[in-house]
Amino acid sequence: METEVLGIEMVDGPIERAAALIREGMTVAFPTETVYGLGANALDPGAVARIFAAKGRPADNPLIVHVAEPEEAEAIAIVPPAARLLMKAYWPGPLTLVMRKKEIVPDAVTAGLDTVAVRMPAHPVALMLIRASGVPIAAPSANRSGRPSPTTAAHVLTDMAGRIPLILDGGPCSVGIESTVLDVSRNPAVLLRPGDVTPAMIGKVLGSSVEIPAAMLRALPEGAAVRSPGLKHTHYAPRAPLTVVMGPPGAVAFHIQSRVEENSRKGISTGVLATAETVGRYDGDYVISLGSRSEPRQMARSLFSALRRMDEQGVDRIYAEGISPEGEGLAFMNRLLRAAGFTVIDVEAP
Ligand code: TXA
Ligand code: MG
Repeated sequence: METEVLGIEMVDGPIERAAALIREGMTVAFPTETVYGLGANALDPGAVARIFAAKGRPADNPLIVHVAEPEEAEAIAIVPPAARLLMKAYWPGPLTLVMRKKEIVPDAVTAGLDTVAVRMPAHPVALMLIRASGVPIAAPSANRSGRPSPTTAAHVLTDMAGRIPLILDGGPCSVGIESTVLDVSRNPAVLLRPGDVTPAMIGKVLGSSVEIPAAMLRALPEGAAVRSPGLKHTHYAPRAPLTVVMGPPGAVAFHIQSRVEENSRKGISTGVLATAETVGRYDGDYVISLGSRSEPRQMARSLFSALRRMDEQGVDRIYAEGISPEGEGLAFMNRLLRAAGFTVIDVEAP
């Protein structure tokens, strides 16, 4: 199969072309404000099976259904009052709501669960595609399973060339990490994946606090029961082993620079994911600043493309500076720790 990449500003009718593919039961990669999605008709089990095949995704990991209006959620889910409040506040946007599913949603989408995850994305191309298709679109991130999520059309092409017929190129994603996933089928609501919409933002709307499982920042014990199947799969992994170093910024930078030099003497190339505050402390060939420690959302936006750049450089090892997992730092640290397979070193002030 040849994979076509269509810039939405360059070619006539790319959205129509993509919508026709969706209606025919094929897959299309498209931009959202979070990451690129790999979409198919959510109501067609055969089309949904093509998503799992193209990604190499385990069948027990359910998909998010994307809609173009809050009202469209009613057709596929039983929408509780808390969900309505959150839709009003944060849709369209990077918030996915897990609700009791209606009959019409195939088991292939929900991996047999009695709930379905629904989101209304904010990206105009995503909204146009859903509207033009005339069906809700099931879409996971458009990466090969286990790889960092794609935040540009070029990332999608790297993973999916020859496996899908079309990629709509809408430029780089503005949020850069996947949506917040919140289970509102329970009371209190449970955070299943942190994202740009923070627990504090949710709590403000609901007037009550959100349950945050410990698994957000820790590896699950072997055989543990999970509420969201996505929590138990390997995620976002770059090709080289990644270690997160936590502690006071100066001590962290000192530790990582020592590793860079030690590795270099052994002929091992080392990549560093630094912060704006400490990037000047490193002397190495593959140092990327993700942004300021005081701007975790900016760091989150840069993370996945930085992991992919490390892959392209072919580094042997990667070290990343950890930041505080409080507030807006939670989503960033959740992704970084998963990418590292929870390999963490704590250092102390000298
Ligand atoms: O930002 C996003 O959410 C992107 C864009 C494309 O919209 N999509 C995305 O999809 O990240 P995916 O498949 O990579 O992640 C979906 C997550 C998984 O962790 C999955 O386990 C969880 O949502 N999920 C889906 N349905 C669920 C359900 N019924 N119950 C619990 N978790 C669910
Ligand atoms: Mg994903």
